[in-house]
Amino acid sequence: MYRFALKVYGCQMNVYDGDKLRTALIQKGWKEVEEEEADLVIFNGCSIRAKAEHKVWSELGRYGDSWNEKSKPYVAVTGCIAQRLGEAMMTRFPWVRLVGGPRHIGNLPEACERVMAGECISLLDEDPRAFIDLEVPPIERVNPWKAYVTIAHGCDNYCTYCIVPYVRGRFVSRSPESIIREVEKLVADGIKEVTLLGQNVDSYGLDFDNGYTFSSLLRDVANIENLPLIRFVTSHPKDFTPDIVKVMSHYPKICPSINLPIQSGSERILQKMNRKYTLEKYRETVSIIRSALPEVGLTSDLIVGFPGETEEDFQDSVAALHEFRYDLVHTAAYSPREGTVAATMPDQIPQEIKMKRLNIVNEIQSRIASEINQSLVNRTYSILIDDVAPKGEGLVQGRTPTDKVVIIKGGKDLIGHFATIKITSADNWCLYGEVIDIVD
Ligand code: SAH
Ligand code: SF4
Ligand code: F3S
Repeated sequence: MYRFALKVYGCQMNVYDGDKLRTALIQKGWKEVEEEEADLVIFNGCSIRAKAEHKVWSELGRYGDSWNEKSKPYVAVTGCIAQRLGEAMMTRFPWVRLVGGPRHIGNLPEACERVMAGECISLLDEDPRAFIDLEVPPIERVNPWKAYVTIAHGCDNYCTYCIVPYVRGRFVSRSPESIIREVEKLVADGIKEVTLLGQNVDSYGLDFDNGYTFSSLLRDVANIENLPLIRFVTSHPKDFTPDIVKVMSHYPKICPSINLPIQSGSERILQKMNRKYTLEKYRETVSIIRSALPEVGLTSDLIVGFPGETEEDFQDSVAALHEFRYDLVHTAAYSPREGTVAATMPDQIPQEIKMKRLNIVNEIQSRIASEINQSLVNRTYSILIDDVAPKGEGLVQGRTPTDKVVIIKGGKDLIGHFATIKITSADNWCLYGEVIDIVD
């Protein structure tokens, strides 16, 4: 019996892929252990920014010291980072014995076994349409109460800064039948919350020819019995359609929370990013969302320091934060990704300016989030308590339907239950609450 450790970086898609790989390996008789005891350490890594890649590079370097000792593990690099840097990692470090891109996930369990038998394997198909799925519902999850389910692979949008289309390949929707079958299996396994994943969920089904769209899928998933909570990410402003909020307002179990990344508040930069929407269209979409779902939690992603971003463009992004008053914004300094269009654009912005701009937007957004969160003190919510809080003894956590983290005083026995929670205080990051009543 082989022992493995799995380290996951990046977005929920990598978490989902990691959960499936873990499940497949355990089903093959492998045992999951701490990194120090593993025969094979798997790094399921991310390539979205240089920083994400550095993390894995430096972790991989660590094995140098122990490599000559008897306990040395083999290493596998998987996920988006493998597609981009796997070969380089394998050349540099003799302990990297397997690299497998995200489109080869179905080949990974067997490849792991072959590595243990002494082979060195590289699974990096250059064909961006090739996809070998792993038909295993993610039963062995990081979290027993909630699960991710990818509804579409890849992305065809080619935003000029983004590596995802190159590492995850072409957009392809999974069939509704296979998604629903998978969610049903997860419900039978005890999950209480599912998050549907896609780089652009709003384009789900546009590659079918039968008119079945994301809102059709949302409706069908909402009709699955014994599934109390449904979430989804990410929405794309160019493809969002009003029928989505219509279905959401009809089914309260679909959480009123929408991530609608704006990326920039400057019309000029949006064009250079190839985002394919104008601010006017974005504004219209936000107003459709807010009028259908008055309580919605609206979040966004914003990049500062995109090539050619002037002070004026940057001020447009600041103005967008004030205008849309998001509940949360994932901000990032632009990181050039080799092979993307923006990486070769003129007028790359110096690092100090990027960092200065990043600090400014973070400060502004943190004030806005803090104001919004303060206004929720004394409200009550029904919340699935799904984990221990990352810091502090005797604290557990869950999320409001609007996707705000709530830290709650209480023991581990609360985990897996729905409770009525009263919000007692708030800061810019999260809410704090106490249990009024355990519902289920
Ligand atoms: N599909 C989603 C987001 C996927 S990547 C969308 O279209 O919005 C997650 C986030 O990482 C992006 O929203 C973007 O804000 C950020 N990001 C992607 N590439 C980046 C880069 N090269 N530099 C900095 N941030 C980047
Ligand atoms: Fe990247 Fe754009 Fe696709 Fe999102 S929509 S994954 S930002 S290319
Ligand atoms: Fe990273 Fe790949 Fe997700 S690059 S953000 S793990 S799709």
